[in-house]
Amino acid sequence: MTKVAIIGAGPCGLSMLRSFEQAEKKGNKIPEIVCFEKQDDWGGLWNYSWRTGSDQYGDPVPNSMYRYLWSNGPKECLEFADYSFDEHFGHPIPSFPPRAVLYDYIIGRAKKGNLKDKIKFNTRVINTIYKNDKFEVSYQDKANDKIVRDVFDYVVVSTGHFSVPYIPEYDGMKSFPGRIMHSHDFRDAEEFREKNVIVLGSSYSAEDVALQCKKYGAKSVTIGYRHNPMGFKWPKGMKEVYHLDRLEGKKAIFKDGTEQEADVIILCSGYLHYFPFLDEELKLKTGNRLYPPKLYKGVVWQKNHKLLYLGMQDQFHTFNMFDCQAWFARDIIMKKIEIPNDDDIDKDINKWVSMEEKLENPDQMIDFQTEYTKELHAMSDYPKIDFELIRKHFKEWEHHKVEDILTYRNKSFSSPVTGSIAPIHHTPWENAMDDSMETFLNK
Ligand SMILES: Cc1cc2nc3c(=O)[nH]c(=O)nc-3n(C[C@H](O)[C@H](O)[C@H](O)COP(=O)(O)OP(=O)(O)OC[C@H]3O[C@@H](n4cnc5c(N)ncnc54)[C@H](O)[C@@H]3O)c2cc1C
Ligand SMILES: NC(=O)c1ccc[n+]([C@@H]2O[C@H](COP(=O)([O-])OP(=O)(O)OC[C@H]3O[C@@H](n4cnc5c(N)ncnc54)[C@H](OP(=O)(O)O)[C@@H]3O)[C@@H](O)[C@H]2O)c1
Repeated sequence: MTKVAIIGAGPCGLSMLRSFEQAEKKGNKIPEIVCFEKQDDWGGLWNYSWRTGSDQYGDPVPNSMYRYLWSNGPKECLEFADYSFDEHFGHPIPSFPPRAVLYDYIIGRAKKGNLKDKIKFNTRVINTIYKNDKFEVSYQDKANDKIVRDVFDYVVVSTGHFSVPYIPEYDGMKSFPGRIMHSHDFRDAEEFREKNVIVLGSSYSAEDVALQCKKYGAKSVTIGYRHNPMGFKWPKGMKEVYHLDRLEGKKAIFKDGTEQEADVIILCSGYLHYFPFLDEELKLKTGNRLYPPKLYKGVVWQKNHKLLYLGMQDQFHTFNMFDCQAWFARDIIMKKIEIPNDDDIDKDINKWVSMEEKLENPDQMIDFQTEYTKELHAMSDYPKIDFELIRKHFKEWEHHKVEDILTYRNKSFSSPVTGSIAPIHHTPWENAMDDSMETFLNK
């Protein structure tokens, strides 16, 4: 019997498990599956942890999410085609939920089946090599510190790529008297009340960490971008300036001449695609981009078609794109989809990579990832979902952010699955200090 290893039980790993379960429900015989999850529960980044650094077993903590994190895109854009928000919550809910609500939704679908039976928790994959047409996977039972080896026909890597921080160094850091940290270790903006905060970066973490600090009472927030500013209309007490040059004592000196007293530096400088548990020839090496090379249809490892990667792209689309990838990967494994010859694979990858390299603005990037997701969607029996509406929502959302970065989360969108329209949340995001599910769902 074909044997499949799935590494990671975050949203991507759960999509993979769900795809097999759906095939089985339709009467197909599915392979033997083992999913390895190094944490003691499922949900990946959405499973909040207070921990930073390493856990009680000495294993690096993968979580990068923090208290008061709200969805940064409309929930309608990530809705599962086979499990709507209306089905989960019993009624329409607002478009930008906090983390706990999205976690509940992800887990709600997973709990509908027997997915947990297939997951080995507290189990970290430490090595994967390919020999004699099989993968030899070594894993550690963390609680008992036992190493076990097993053999698989296919490996699905669904370990995420926002867990290992990229940490640059600037002059003066060694002697800076305050705190220097990466957004990976950011847990609670309350910590920075009355502080002068410097945020370095110009992407989603920089935007949200900076706004969180302001919202929860930082004295000032200065964002240092390296290439392009985010350019939003920042509220009073926040500014965006060009590139940190150096730190001198407590002073941050930027290349545009700005000088700012600083208590803390938060590096929002992104993450590394880091796979220490894969043999060198199996490792995807890429930056955070919309079409990492060497992956056929963004999923199949070009040099070994039995190795599949999920969710390795930079992400506008998330949960339903992961589903489309998982359904596609499942059909590759179950031989319902045939992989073309090497030349055609190469041409297909090059076509997408060269299209990606020409993209100039967020609207084009949204179009690109929507086209990619639609193409995958058409290749499997993943249920119907309106990707044209999702495309439209993403563009509208981008424009809302440009209009007002403080109010974009107060808007409402319609579901691409049920068509229902989200109610406006009872409290505008900038005043909503409590991110609990109870408070959010309270009408
Ligand atoms: C701060 C932050 C905020 C975000 N906010 C949003 C948002 O608002 N909306 C949105 O759609 N997306 C958001 N994302 C994007 C996020 O990447 C996806 O939503 C999603 O979590 C990706 O799922 P994943 O399964 O690929 O990875 P992850 O969620 O990272 O899950 C990977 C899993 O693999 C496990 N694992 C890793 N290595 C091993 C190993 N060697 N052995 C066994 N298990 C292993 C980990 O423990 C983890 O459970 C956010 C990301 C970050 C960092
Ligand atoms: N729900 C939420 O509110 C929320 C909050 C945070 C994050 N997220 C998610 O988390 C994921 C990761 O986002 P991310 O922002 O952490 O990573 P990212 O999108 O990969 O961005 C990395 C940023 O780091 C900057 N950078 C790299 N090296 C630098 C250096 N030496 N100095 C200054 N800046 C440097 C890059 O700037 P250059 O352009 O100059 O290279 C870029 O702006 C995304 O999927 C995002 O949606 C969501």
